Amino acid sequence: MAHSLIYLDRNESNYGPAPKCYDVLRTAGLESMSWYSREFGTGSKSILTARLAADLQIDESSIILGYGAEDLLKQSVQCFLTKDDTILIPSYSWWYYKQLAAEVGCKQAEYPLVIRENGYEYDIDSFLEIYSEVKPSMVFISSPNNPTGNAISPIELHEILHHLSESIVVLDEAYSSKSTNSMMKELLTKHPNLIIMRTFSKYYALAGIRIGYAVVGEKVKEFTKFTNRYLGYNRLSEQIAIAALDSPEYYEEIAEKMTQDKEMMYEEFSRLNGFTAYHSVANFILVKIPRSMYTSLDTYLKNRGFVVKFMNEELLNSHLRITLGTQKQNSNLMNAINDYCRENAHEQEIHRIFQPAYHEFRKENTHEAAL
Ligand SMILES: Cc1ncc(COP(=O)(O)O)c(C=O)c1O
Repeated sequence: MAHSLIYLDRNESNYGPAPKCYDVLRTAGLESMSWYSREFGTGSKSILTARLAADLQIDESSIILGYGAEDLLKQSVQCFLTKDDTILIPSYSWWYYKQLAAEVGCKQAEYPLVIRENGYEYDIDSFLEIYSEVKPSMVFISSPNNPTGNAISPIELHEILHHLSESIVVLDEAYSSKSTNSMMKELLTKHPNLIIMRTFSKYYALAGIRIGYAVVGEKVKEFTKFTNRYLGYNRLSEQIAIAALDSPEYYEEIAEKMTQDKEMMYEEFSRLNGFTAYHSVANFILVKIPRSMYTSLDTYLKNRGFVVKFMNEELLNSHLRITLGTQKQNSNLMNAINDYCRENAHEQEIHRIFQPAYHEFRKENTHEAAL
């Protein structure tokens, strides 16, 4: 077994945050570590909410910070739902949504996602049908959705929201750093029942500092009182998050590398019998594999130093979810999966086809530095 494992199982970043984030830690002083925030006295909530308000062109009073999107999702359910309510969630989604509903004892209903040409998609017609039957108090939409990796398009989003005015709509954008930024103001004005959740954990590689935010429409403004922290948030986390926002080039470069790697992986998996990789716009991909491989592939990959997620959910129980690592890690992981298939070809009836394109890719990426 390899001594140090590379974790590609929880959608964290192996690139790490921008250098400016480390600078904040190096220079942290009394005011960030020993004092409460003094922003309230100035009429602002916090340095980060003020910054986000300016970036998103919305009122600071509509923004609330939390201990990651996890915290804000939980608070939204606890603020608005009781056991008499119903929550509508995607049938393939982050397991935690069901947990939140169970905690308040509310009823749960699900709407399906469908597999089309490239991968999973929201099915607007069946969603709206189920919505009108169930009449939920709250709807969760996850974009991109974990673990399927698909996002809802702006057109679909507008179409859906238009029909949901009787419910509170929570749009979980944990895996999207900015896709709805340019339409945030319009979305909130047209749909005052909307709460948008964001986090610094994924795109900004800051899962460990636990900071996320929600942007809320006028009709659900009471949520800001439920979640407010009058003595301030985590001052260091806020400064680190601002340093991340100040480093767009660093993160765009990583996003570009991930896009290249996803293409490489789709291509690779398409050549392996028994594997289907679904198109993803997030930092992970979902891959259908034969369930019979679970134990042997898991052990094989761990021996090669990799931990990926073998899904064990009701509807996704023959699937791997692979978090994108650095280019070198991704290339080595695909190498290991290819080796596994070759070595197990007899038992698994999997025939690896020679792939010049893949070997070219690996040659180009083996120079990668210490990332
Ligand atoms: C869909 C989704 N939303 C929210 C979160 C929570 O992110 P965090 O609490 O780190 O901000 C996760 C974490 O994996 C997630 O998958």
